[in-house]
Amino acid sequence: MARISVIGTGYLGVTHAACMASLGHDVVALDVDKDKVTSLAAGIVPFHEPGLPKLLKEALAAKKIHFTSDWTDVAAEADVHFLCVGTPQLPESSAADLSQIKSAISSLAPLLTKSCLIVGKSTVPVGTAKWISEYLIANSPAGKGVHLVWNPEFLREGFAVEDTLYPDRIVLGIQNKEDISGLTDIYASALDASTPLVVTDYATAELVKVAANAFLATKISFINAFAYLADEVGADVGTLADAIGHDTRIGRRFLNAGIGFGGGCLPKDIRALQARASELGLSEHFEFLKNVDEVNKSRRNYVVELARKTLETLDDKTITILGAAFKPDSDDLRDSPALGIALALSKAGANIQLHDPVALPQVRARNLPVTAIENVEEVFDGADLVLHLTEWKLYREIDPKTIGEKVANKRIIDGRNVLDRDLWSNAGWQITYLGKPGSQAAL
Ligand code: UDX
Repeated sequence: MARISVIGTGYLGVTHAACMASLGHDVVALDVDKDKVTSLAAGIVPFHEPGLPKLLKEALAAKKIHFTSDWTDVAAEADVHFLCVGTPQLPESSAADLSQIKSAISSLAPLLTKSCLIVGKSTVPVGTAKWISEYLIANSPAGKGVHLVWNPEFLREGFAVEDTLYPDRIVLGIQNKEDISGLTDIYASALDASTPLVVTDYATAELVKVAANAFLATKISFINAFAYLADEVGADVGTLADAIGHDTRIGRRFLNAGIGFGGGCLPKDIRALQARASELGLSEHFEFLKNVDEVNKSRRNYVVELARKTLETLDDKTITILGAAFKPDSDDLRDSPALGIALALSKAGANIQLHDPVALPQVRARNLPVTAIENVEEVFDGADLVLHLTEWKLYREIDPKTIGEKVANKRIIDGRNVLDRDLWSNAGWQITYLGKPGSQAAL
């Protein structure tokens, strides 16, 4: 079993650390945020991720993991260091902010006195791994004994544990062939289960991650562009997606039309890719991603305008919003289409009654102009309009008859196109989908 450190305890880091410990490796996980370290050491995961708290508690009880803010612990206790810090979008530009990466390697390098492996997992602009490797060699006492491997992570929120333990593929960007075995030992269980292993250079490994996210984002905006068309001509975008999805070259997944994508990855990754392409003089070839981003953002305005059209005016109307997180099984509000719509409606004068099964503490922490309602039974009271914006299973199980008695008007917009039309219509509701006929969605 390996001695591992995980640097950065955000979404990626905590999941990776707990999963590696569950495989029997000895893990020390570092974060510069001492409060975070204290709560993780007590087994508290600061975000909602199914299965992760249990895994963390088991690892703590088995003494397979501990948390620290002390870089000397990391250098002393591990031979393989996973770099899992965040690379968010810079506030004033579309490029990625690499300050956490720079700070991590400058703290770690002077302490690397013996040969070791650094494994980059953060999502970075292409070319980053090369300078990290050069920096580490130049600034570590162990010099050329410090080897870097680039090993992008593809975990989805809500499935983070499963995706870490049973990934679709393992990608290793290397400079030295002998570094492969260090990683294949650590990932032995996944590789034994026939997970494809792709060994390549740094630049390709970095690009695999951004290309995958750019492709997924493009797929979603592609189908959302067709949702506009479908609304205009009375076609059904869901049936269209099913039909083209039968073509295995296309595939059905990520063709669900609705209010578009959000979260901490897809939006910032397509922007960072455009910024990097532009630095490399290739911006014209990545113009399409600007369009992908614009189609995506326009979906939020479209729903706001649809609500305005339905209600004639938004001023002083009561609107119930189901869902705040950017997707179900997550409490992540980063670039959430649901929250974006809620705030735009509030700005336009509507009173927002917002429910989410897990994200309300994050909503409250942001002190937003919405009324957060814990009990889903109470969120419908007096509503002029209901918007279904995050496809939690809970919302598909709502009885439209019961809630029909609580609202002022039985009108719902299904921003995710998943509610049962017959069920809602038979209970007397006017249900509007995005890109489905008979739904009066075309503005
Ligand atoms: C994504 C990638 O899937 C993952 O591989 C990468 O490591 C990180 O970024 P995540 O951000 O967890 O993962 O969310 P994902 O499941 O990809 O969904 C992204 C957004 O797209 C969500 O807002 C979701 O609601 C939306 N979406 C997804 C659609 O609107 N339609 C679809 O068909 C699929």
